[in-house]
Amino acid sequence: MAGFSWYLSEGFQVIIEKSREAKCSLKDVQLRFLCPDDLEEVRSLCRDWFPIEYPQSWYEDITSSERFFALAAVYKCQIIGLIVAEIKPYLKLNAEDRGILSRWFASKDTLVAYILSLGVARSFRRSGVATMLLDVLIGQLAGPAPRPPHDHRVKAIFLHVLTTNQEAILFYEKRRFRLHSFLPYYYSIKGRCKDGFTYVYYVNGGHAPWGLYDYVKYVAQAAWRGGGLYPWLWAKLRTALTIAWHSESKMTWSATKVMP
Ligand SMILES: CC(C)(COP(=O)(O)OP(=O)(O)OC[C@H]1O[C@@H](n2cnc3c(N)ncnc32)[C@H](O)[C@@H]1OP(=O)(O)O)[C@@H](O)C(=O)NCCC(=O)NCCS
Repeated sequence: MAGFSWYLSEGFQVIIEKSREAKCSLKDVQLRFLCPDDLEEVRSLCRDWFPIEYPQSWYEDITSSERFFALAAVYKCQIIGLIVAEIKPYLKLNAEDRGILSRWFASKDTLVAYILSLGVARSFRRSGVATMLLDVLIGQLAGPAPRPPHDHRVKAIFLHVLTTNQEAILFYEKRRFRLHSFLPYYYSIKGRCKDGFTYVYYVNGGHAPWGLYDYVKYVAQAAWRGGGLYPWLWAKLRTALTIAWHSESKMTWSATKVMP
């Protein structure tokens, strides 16, 4: 399993200017990775943000295991947002997630990132905090120089979301995540089944399986550029002309032969 060990050695501060009516200036928000001491704070935030009850082992894992990219946004010593993601080999995904990439990527080298959790404290929402956290994740996986062990092998970043979670859906759509699939009864929340969506963001050249529209678009683009289609058409035309010319000369030659 791929790890995130290199992140843990880095303490850093990201400064991004934004804010029209922001609740805090992003200049004052620091980013750092979660550590075991954050467990209680993270648990109380997640209980407030998510309808799902996570087990204690999940909180222990995300605050201590190197398997997770668990980044917190901190304002005045308090965690106000966090993103938790995990890198997985594409071939080991559950059946319902295996269709997010084209079959060209079905190799043991292909990795994907799964966002387990992204949340921002209510009073700090719409200030760009989630955008900042997501940008760091994307930058690490698909920036100009993603570091080993992942290099450019992560081809998609994906997540599941309740179909009723409008604010999260609007957020991910604004960030150009694409709706990939509808998952009926995907969640069990307080004993009731709820539907989910899968959203995907493609990176490092990854793309969804092609449909008819994509093939038509490809041919149209090739024709527009003149690459691929024109040489093919020209080769066919040349063959046809050569055949026609030869059969013409053959006919003339046989006609000349029978002339007295
Ligand atoms: C979804 C969530 C993480 C967004 O966090 P945030 O810090 O408020 O998001 P940002 O400020 O970076 O928003 C970026 C853009 O997303 C869109 N957006 C975010 N929240 C929105 C909302 N409630 N309504 C409409 N658009 C929204 C907007 O286009 C926004 O840009 P703008 O503010 O310039 O208009 C936050 O609402 C949250 O924590 N929700 C509860 C937890 C949750 O459901 N997490 C997702 C689980 S999959």
